[in-house]
This record gives sequence, C-alpha cells and structure tokens, in this order.
Amino acid sequence: MDLVVKNGRVITATDDYVADIGIQGGKIAAIGKDLSGKNVMDASGMLVFPGGVDVHTHLDMPFMGMVSADDFRTGTIAAASGGTTCLVDFAIQGKGQSLAEALATWKKKAEGKAVIDYGFHIAITDLPDTVLAEIPKVVEEGVTSFKLFMAYKGSLMVDDGTFFKTLVKAKECGALVSFHAENGEVLDVLIKKFLAEGKGDPIHHALSRPPKAEGEATGRGFALAEMANAPIYVVHLSCSEALDKVKMFRDRGLPVYAETCPQYLMLDIERYNEPNFGGAKYVMSPPLREKWNQDVLWDGLRNGYLQTVATDHCPFNFKGQKDKGKGDFSKIPNGAPSLETRMSLLFTEGVVKGRISINRFVEVFSTNPAKLFGLFPEKGTIAVGSDADLVIFDPKKEVTITQSLLHQNVDYTAFEGFRVKGYPVKTIVGGQLVIDNGKFVGKEGAGRYIKRKKFVGL
Ligand code: URP
Ligand code: ZN
Ligand code: ZN
Repeated sequence: MDLVVKNGRVITATDDYVADIGIQGGKIAAIGKDLSGKNVMDASGMLVFPGGVDVHTHLDMPFMGMVSADDFRTGTIAAASGGTTCLVDFAIQGKGQSLAEALATWKKKAEGKAVIDYGFHIAITDLPDTVLAEIPKVVEEGVTSFKLFMAYKGSLMVDDGTFFKTLVKAKECGALVSFHAENGEVLDVLIKKFLAEGKGDPIHHALSRPPKAEGEATGRGFALAEMANAPIYVVHLSCSEALDKVKMFRDRGLPVYAETCPQYLMLDIERYNEPNFGGAKYVMSPPLREKWNQDVLWDGLRNGYLQTVATDHCPFNFKGQKDKGKGDFSKIPNGAPSLETRMSLLFTEGVVKGRISINRFVEVFSTNPAKLFGLFPEKGTIAVGSDADLVIFDPKKEVTITQSLLHQNVDYTAFEGFRVKGYPVKTIVGGQLVIDNGKFVGKEGAGRYIKRKKFVGL
C-alpha cells in the first residue's frame, strides 16, 4: 500500500466501525485490520469520513458586474481545508454563447489551479435550437446536469418554455435539471417599488423576495418537470413554503430532489439589520428567512424530504464589492461564502446537537450529492475501489469560526463567532495529503476534471 490510515472510526452513510484503510494508486485498495504500507497515518480517536461533495459553488464567477472573490485555487484550498474533496461548479452560458464555449471557459478557469477534483453543471441562459442540440454533446463530456434560473430578470432568468424544453432534452440524454426557484417577475416589481419609495437598505433585499415567491416557483418547476416526465433538483431551498412543495410532489412519488445550505439552517433575517451596512454581508438569493424556518428545514433533512446540504458559495468582499450597493440593495452582489465551514457547522449544529444522526450527516454532506450528480461510488463513500478522498476529523476539537482562521479569499465569514465542536484535521484527495492541520500541503493543479456519469437517482 502507498498509505495506510490506521485505526480510525470509519463512518459512511450506512456504517460505523474501526478499521485501517489501505490506499494504492489513489484508490481505496483494502479495508481491514493490521494493514501495512509505505506510509502510515495514525487516526486513533479520529473519525474518518468520505470527503465532502459540494454540488453548488460559484468560483471565479462574473455576476452583477463583479467577479466572485475565490478562484479555483483559493476556493479549492478553502474547500479542502473544510473537508470537501470534490465540488461541482456552475459554468454560466452567456447570452449568445454556445454550451461548448461556456464549458471551455470554466475548464480554463480551473485547470492548473484546482487542488481537489471538480466537475461542472452548465447554467443555461439562452436556448436557441443550436444550443438545445448541443445538450447531448456536453452530456457525453461529463456535464450531466444543467441549471435554470427562475429569477434575476434581465440577466440569468429563463422563461417557462426554455425551462420545459431543457427538461425534455435533459431527460432524453440522462441528465438532471436543477433550478433556482424564485418568481423573478414578482421580485422585479417589488424591487422597483421599494427603490422608488427610497427603501434601499439590505433588509429590503429580503422583503423584496418573499417566501411565497420561492414557494410558487418551486411548485412551478416541479410541475414543469412532471409534465416533461423528468427528474428535477431545486437548489438552495430556504423556507417552509418551498419545502411544502417538495413534500407534496415527493409524497406523490415524483422524482423531485431538494438541497438546502448552512446559511438557511443557521442564520436568519435579523442579520440584515446589522449596523454599518453589515446586513450586506448576508445579501444572497433566496434571502435569509424568519428563524422558525430553520426548525422546519432541520426536520426536512432528518425525515428525508431534503437530500443534500451544499453551500452556494458565492463570495464577494464586503469592502469594494458588497459596499457598492450602499443605498441601493439591488446593486449588492448576491452571494456569501460558505464552502469552508460546511462540514464543521453541519456536524456541530446537526450531529452534536442531536438534530441528525452521524450517518445522515455523511449522506447529505457527501453520499447523496455524489449519487445525484453522477459521482458515486468513486466519490461519496469509503469502499474498496472508491477514490481515496478522505477526511480525518477530530470530534473533540473546538474552534470558534473567525475570518482569520479561514483560507477563503474573502474579507468576512457569515458565520463569525460560531463555536464548533469537531473539525477536519487532515484532508486526503486521491491518496495525497492536501491539508494537514490547517496547512495546505497539496499541489496546485492536482485536482482533476471529473466526467460525471448520467443521472440514476438515489
Ligand atoms: O445569492 C446567490 N445565491 N448568489 C449566487 C447565484 C445563485 O443564485 O445561486
Ligand atoms: Zn441561485
Ligand atoms: Zn448558486
């Protein structure tokens, strides 16, 4: 063996046992007792998890006249530091652009920089017949999921016809469609109304995007998928109104899937009232909701209506980016950093506080995202033949989340001051140590583009 991780408590979505893990050629080659190898890593007293899979990130993304602050080097170092070993980012198709161009642009952003493995969804914003015809080709190149926006009128938003056509074609090709669910037409009216009334502060970002607008769009997306006889995945679900739609469709046995994010589980609408324009740090879409929604989302995670926790990591600096929207919330770039803190926060708030089991934690953090997005069983589990993507996690390590601790290239964390119990101490990607006690020891560009497999469901 090239490396043996010894005596760790191995946790997957279904198992929990103490064993040695033998790694050869970047893969898990054996799991057992008394394994020996050229290199040995002692994991006694530690938990050993499959590396996290984050299927919702926006690295180096041009958006609202700015570019998100993490590129594929800083973003993937941050990911690895936080226990994520594979991410799926969004290649955004510009208006008039082909899907091939969008994919090539994003591959170029990542190549030579990423330190963990990565794939791409393509966000379709413009669908002439030539682009529709490209869908099968990019699926063969490993882009087996697409994203559609029901919001951001005038930039990313698509109409229901585009939505439906994409669903039909994606289904034919074995791909999954995901979507941003907010009624963009209603939001546009509300945004203009508040600004005309001189209400430009960050709280009006949230008030212009009511939960009902998310609930309506969630139900509409699901209804379109039902008409197209296609599976569908709603991203960054934030509120009870939207979860009700998930329940309604899943209870009818339809293949609808839903993701939430740490920010919706742990932060609430009061954040927008932070003084000195501090509320801008939380301007994201959908916005943070009233606190009671958090219990509803935890219930959804526990009982299976929500299948994944991703981050929607879309970092913009407070100084120089967020502050461009002083006096006009519609100019605050939407998005917040979350990639590096997903594991420790979800473990603490979920497992330590008794809201979800440790196996369920692995399922929503790693296994389900890998399964839904064509990465399983190479990613998302610890099994012979899987990629040796592992996180050695110290369940006793207590940390106060603060900006200076983190590797992400942005001047704040939305989770400043959160106390966590349990922290990733070593991250291994493809058998190589990438993070050692907070220090990046990997190689820039070692992350591989993963051609993802076609959709099979959970
Ligand atoms: O505010 C957000 N979520 N920004 C990123 C783009 C998106 O909507 O996912
Ligand atoms: Zn979105
Ligand atoms: Zn997003």
